[in-house]
Amino acid sequence: MTQSNILDALKTCLGPNGWVSAEDSEQFVSDILGKGGECLLVARPQSTEEVAALVKICAQSGIAIVPQGGNTNVCRMAVPLEGQRVVLLSLSRMNRIVALDSGANTATVEAGVLMETLQNAANDADRVFAPDWGARGTATVGGAVATNGGGLNVLRYGTTREQVLGMEVVLPDGSVWNGMRALIKDNSGYDLKHLFIGSEGTLGIITRLVFRLHPRQPVTQSMMAVLSDMTRLTEFFDLARSIGGQDLAAFELLPGLGVEKALERYPDLQRPLETRADWFLLIRFAGRESVEEPLMRLFEQGFEAGILSDAVLSSSGAQEQNLWEIREQMIPHQYFRQPLLKWDVSVPTNRIVDFLLQAEQRVKEVEPDAFCYAVGHVGDGNIHYSAFPPLGTEDKVISEIYDEVDALIWSMDGSIVAEHGVGSIFAERMRRQKSGVEYTMMQTVKQSFDPQGIMNPGKLLKTD
Ligand code: LAC
Ligand code: ZN
Repeated sequence: MTQSNILDALKTCLGPNGWVSAEDSEQFVSDILGKGGECLLVARPQSTEEVAALVKICAQSGIAIVPQGGNTNVCRMAVPLEGQRVVLLSLSRMNRIVALDSGANTATVEAGVLMETLQNAANDADRVFAPDWGARGTATVGGAVATNGGGLNVLRYGTTREQVLGMEVVLPDGSVWNGMRALIKDNSGYDLKHLFIGSEGTLGIITRLVFRLHPRQPVTQSMMAVLSDMTRLTEFFDLARSIGGQDLAAFELLPGLGVEKALERYPDLQRPLETRADWFLLIRFAGRESVEEPLMRLFEQGFEAGILSDAVLSSSGAQEQNLWEIREQMIPHQYFRQPLLKWDVSVPTNRIVDFLLQAEQRVKEVEPDAFCYAVGHVGDGNIHYSAFPPLGTEDKVISEIYDEVDALIWSMDGSIVAEHGVGSIFAERMRRQKSGVEYTMMQTVKQSFDPQGIMNPGKLLKTD
């Protein structure tokens, strides 16, 4: 078949509302990092059957597929790369909540449901759908699973992986695996769903999911505090855990610079504290009854110990929301000039301070005029770390900075990719993080599912 015959066949199986032409594909092929490559067509199927039919056509014609949810990934995972000949498969029309069973505490959904839509539906049923981060209004649950996203609730409920009970996947040859089981226990062999969670669209296309839901914690209150002694972060986190127990819902580290930038850029945000500082903490307690007393006690003990110097406790839902909206505007891409060097660091939680102190030192040893920026989910050891050398910095110096900080992370038995995924921007360095044995196992998995290499090529791992 010629290319135009293939595209015609795809359009026929998708129907008139099921595709967008290459000329109109700008929003699909660009992401937060700018424009990626081109696509031949954006496919917007409505059902698993349509996905399966289009994957079959692509497989038979050797055309690669780039799956996409809400296109909010920050590692160039869900857009085509330059020079590729691909069909972009957007799951955005597969957006139905099929069932929400509050007795079984499960939700059965199509992959293109927005995270926020499912959060709201769960909330209405007095339940919690746990995955949550700033892009909740755009990101899809399928994308969340395909990247194994982390976010703000990991401390309390675990990563997205821990919320998945079952899934349906269209495999790279167009066959459909129905693994829509809702069991908590099932040891009947390899647990294949875990291969697809975090596979970044490189093994198949997740089309439907069964999620676990949790009981809702109706009372929530948050505190933003000035962390005056950053070296005692871990000690203070331990204190928060011992005071809050299960009610400690989130514990986040915010850079003062980011807070200033967010307040400057978004005038609707209210300044929570007059104090300017290098580091702030944002801590949420959530429970069935008032959490004010333990939150207050946490502040007092932190203040007496000289770890905190100021704080504000939210006194209304709107105030609490304002604090979290500030937190959600900490991603650096929108504030600073290039070049942006990026790590999505994972280290054992008690190494975070070591990491922050040593990373800055290493960056500055290579480039004294660089500045560093960090925002983190302290409760799970994840720090989004960036370094900004001056404009015009040579590539050689940039590589040296990457090498220094990568080596530091690895010396702490950490990972350069915690929750955002590998995409294409971490693919090369992730390979260096793995032993030959581990990388070969990953290549073997890829090869056995996708021998033609048509699923999201150039992302996650190199096949050579
Ligand atoms: C955050 C997202 C970007 O933590 O992971 O802000
Ligand atoms: Zn994050």
